[in-house]
Amino acid sequence: MKRRQFLTLSAAALATPALLSRRSLAAEPGTPLPLPQVMDVDAGNGNSLNAILGQREFIAGAPSNTLGYDQDYLGPVLRFKRGATARLAITNRTDGPITTHWHGLHIPGHLDGGPQLAFDTQETWTPELPIDQPATTLWYHSHVHGKTAEQVYRGLAGLILVEDPDIADPLPRDYGQNDFPLIIQDRSFDSSGRMTYDLGMMGRMAGFQGSEMLVNGAIRPRLSVPAGLVRLRLLNASNARAYALRFDDNRSFYQVGSDGGLLPAPVAMTGLHLSSSERAEIVVDFSDGAPVRLVSTDTGMMGGTGGGMMGGMMGGSTGGSSSMMGGMTNRGASGPEFEIMSFAVSDAPLKGPQSLPATLPAQIPDLGQPVRTRDFTLNMSMGMGGMMGSMISGLIGGGGQSMGINGQSYDMGRIDQKVALGETELWRINTDMMMHPFHVHGTSFQVLSLQGKKVDQARIGMKDVVHVMGPSEILVRFDRPAAAETPFMFHCHILEHEDSGMMGQFTVT
Ligand code: C2O
Ligand code: CU
Ligand code: CU
Repeated sequence: MKRRQFLTLSAAALATPALLSRRSLAAEPGTPLPLPQVMDVDAGNGNSLNAILGQREFIAGAPSNTLGYDQDYLGPVLRFKRGATARLAITNRTDGPITTHWHGLHIPGHLDGGPQLAFDTQETWTPELPIDQPATTLWYHSHVHGKTAEQVYRGLAGLILVEDPDIADPLPRDYGQNDFPLIIQDRSFDSSGRMTYDLGMMGRMAGFQGSEMLVNGAIRPRLSVPAGLVRLRLLNASNARAYALRFDDNRSFYQVGSDGGLLPAPVAMTGLHLSSSERAEIVVDFSDGAPVRLVSTDTGMMGGTGGGMMGGMMGGSTGGSSSMMGGMTNRGASGPEFEIMSFAVSDAPLKGPQSLPATLPAQIPDLGQPVRTRDFTLNMSMGMGGMMGSMISGLIGGGGQSMGINGQSYDMGRIDQKVALGETELWRINTDMMMHPFHVHGTSFQVLSLQGKKVDQARIGMKDVVHVMGPSEILVRFDRPAAAETPFMFHCHILEHEDSGMMGQFTVT
């Protein structure tokens, strides 16, 4: 089967997300946005986190079995300060091994929380994390090989704020007042209203796509905001789904930060693309007092070509079709829209900055010229003949190691790459099929090109995930060591792909 046939097939199989039509569940959209507690984590003792088994009524009267850190679903926002050591004691009170990976944190491999650092029920892990990187929004989640998708799905994830006391942040930054975390996830519920994780063949191939939208663990919630500038810290914590976000009145907003920190200047846009595990900080002006909804089009398996990463760099508009898609209908930009959450403007007194500065205190390092090039091809199926192999492994199920990178499925006992500490490298990443958000542990990188096109550095900033649908290049340097016992990972952040073997590991010495 050829790529085009595959795309047609997948478009048909995934057509019209259920969330557009399904209104039968007793979901209560418009419940207030839950605001996670902030835990300031420094060198003091007493910063403890418990991974627990929970129950949450996402839908009233229908408790779902969940996982969380000190709460029944998701966890507190961990606030780390640059220059300090964040000391934590994480106890596993769930019923199987977990890890706690600090996604985007620049720390050595033995603290990274990768698959080798799994700890079992009733065990406690006590990492001491030296925090040294620009202020930004990161996240933490479990990373047990073969279990990551299910554990994150059930709730084992949370947000991290890295703050830098030496750099004045000129943007709204009163947590819960004019600065809000939005953890965006899609989930499915059975007819009784309980959360389910049923993959089916398409889900095993393309990754899970849920039929309802959750933000911070609530279904299509409502947030009351002051009538001024508000900062939203977006995290796509969905297992697989990518979003082409916009506001339903088409208002412009400004992207001010990406995965690794602030952009050099606010970037005006009306649409933003966010694939699994990407973050974007945006500033939205609510001074007109009008209620508005945050919506997305379904980007399907192609991952969309609307706003943000693609559209944003080509002029900040949603729409436009990618060369990758040839003459095919661009579902990403033209598909039906669904609601993620809504905003209502309150008459709370205005606090914080009411205008955006022309430039931001971004810290983009000069990585210099690469001394080496490495190539990575993300493979949808191993050995069994491309698409048919994927379909067969999808049909037989069982979450086997059917996907890979450079022709090999992930093996915890094999080191795939050896990188020298402090050297800048060019990594060329491509895909044999489908879009894949490619993530690298232990660093942030610059994106030089995406799908064969040069990108505008000023619009993209420092990243730790890159949305690959065609030949893409990143410039990367590793300043934190990782030994063979606790290597860093590179992988597709569609969690079902990662669990199926689309992951490799590398040392930094
Ligand atoms: Cu978000 Cu390897 O992880
Ligand atoms: Cu990570
Ligand atoms: Cu993938």
